[in-house]
Amino acid sequence: MELLRRSKRCRTALLTCLLSTLVLFLQLLVQLWLEWIEDANVPVHHHITNKFSLNDVDDLVLVWWTPFTGNTGSFIECGNLKCFITEDRRFQHHSKFQMFLFYGSNLEIWDLPLPRKDQHIWSLFHEESPKNIPFLSHQEGISLFNFTATFSRFSDVPLTLQYVQSFESLTDLQYYVPLSKKNELLQYLSPVLYVQSDCDTPLDRDKYVQNLMRYISVDSYGTCLHNKDLPESMSNPMESMTSEEFLHFTAQYKFTIAFENAVCEDYITEKLWRPLTVGSVPIYLGSPSVQDWLPSQNSAVLAINFSSPKELASHISVLNSNDEEYLSLLSHKESVISNIYQKAKMNPRLWGSLKDNRYHFIDQFECQMCIKAHHNSKANVQRKVANQEVYNCPKPISSVTGQEDPTNPWLYLWKYSKCEASLLAEIIQGGHMFVNQTLFNQEVLSRMRESDCT
Ligand SMILES: *[C@@H]1O[C@H](CO)[C@@H](O)[C@H](O)[C@H]1NC(C)=O
Ligand SMILES: *[C@@H]1O[C@H](CO)[C@@H](O)[C@H](O)[C@H]1NC(C)=O
Ligand SMILES: *[C@@H]1O[C@H](CO)[C@@H](O)[C@H](O)[C@H]1NC(C)=O
Repeated sequence: MELLRRSKRCRTALLTCLLSTLVLFLQLLVQLWLEWIEDANVPVHHHITNKFSLNDVDDLVLVWWTPFTGNTGSFIECGNLKCFITEDRRFQHHSKFQMFLFYGSNLEIWDLPLPRKDQHIWSLFHEESPKNIPFLSHQEGISLFNFTATFSRFSDVPLTLQYVQSFESLTDLQYYVPLSKKNELLQYLSPVLYVQSDCDTPLDRDKYVQNLMRYISVDSYGTCLHNKDLPESMSNPMESMTSEEFLHFTAQYKFTIAFENAVCEDYITEKLWRPLTVGSVPIYLGSPSVQDWLPSQNSAVLAINFSSPKELASHISVLNSNDEEYLSLLSHKESVISNIYQKAKMNPRLWGSLKDNRYHFIDQFECQMCIKAHHNSKANVQRKVANQEVYNCPKPISSVTGQEDPTNPWLYLWKYSKCEASLLAEIIQGGHMFVNQTLFNQEVLSRMRESDCT
């Protein structure tokens, strides 16, 4: 009798136990399902920090040759495709190795995975201008890579809008200062703002701004052409650049100079997006096709449309004294984004910007490359070599005269890097084991002396 009771109690307990396990299990399923829905479009990363041995991995392998992500090994899933991605160079010898990934700024000519094997795919991630790696500006340089993620709309993973926080940031009025207030402030402030501390650039923007300043008053707070100090609380403009206070401060200006450090097709940075966000009209010089990306055709004053800094200055003066014309440049602050092209490109973007923690564009790049690697592992794959249009940064010319300026050191560097690019391509195509730095530099110099390589 007692046994029966005991076993019955036990049975009840067992049932409770089973039930609660079942509930837990269901909860877990629901949670997994919810996460799955949320992430269906986003690659799943399983970061594991300890080192793998080659035998641990059975998926296709992609190796970051240049240090960039700090990832010693992770499995990623992109849809139903899987890859293993690592910075661990031993994995270039894995039987399922497919692709090298390079981060442009960390790439060194004397440290490349040579000799290059025919089936090795090289992919480049480089969001910056050629300031720190000039040889990419040349066809011989960029075509060392098969796939790219650059600022260009033509690259495989375009990063053109990388610095735009969101669509909403362009239309919202968080920082917006009404025109009547801006006009009042002209008693204390110049109509034009300039904040720059990188004064030596391929575009030579300071020379242009210096000329502009002769014809219109510009407040310059950075170290370049400095003529005014920031309020105490923001005394280091480079540090406070992204602070709320600084954004409110810049919003008081009717115009902001937004000159890129180099002229490359589609190379557009926060220099343009910041004034657009706060509601100051950008005076822009940089990508020749910037209009494709503006909220409306008319959201910036383009220096390239004026024959001289003087002409530009007189146009700014006209806009400054005509409220109606001035406001027509700010239609995005009335929530009007009329640029269909920009809309089309922004909408499918999965990643957030550098600032927020949403899914990042580096994940997007890795995932796209994983997909390409799978494609490449099949027979009869169509070959692909990157073309100069994905990194279109022509020979620097003076922003003021439109001519080559022999005193601009970046012009020399551009020519020098053309010699670098062609020599490097020869070495790699010749199947060499490595690049000897001393000999390489000697040879580049001797070619420079002979012909500029152009
Ligand atoms: C600049 O000039 C081009 C060519 O004349 C013109 O299509 C464009 O609308 C102008 N852009 C602005 C913002 O004035
Ligand atoms: C990758 O690019 C190189 C040139 O840099 C080319 O020789 C090779 O055929 C390309 N591979 C594929 C699979 O497209
Ligand atoms: C590079 O070449 C120079 C000159 O021939 C030679 O002295 C040096 O040892 C070489 N360096 C390497 C790492 O092979």
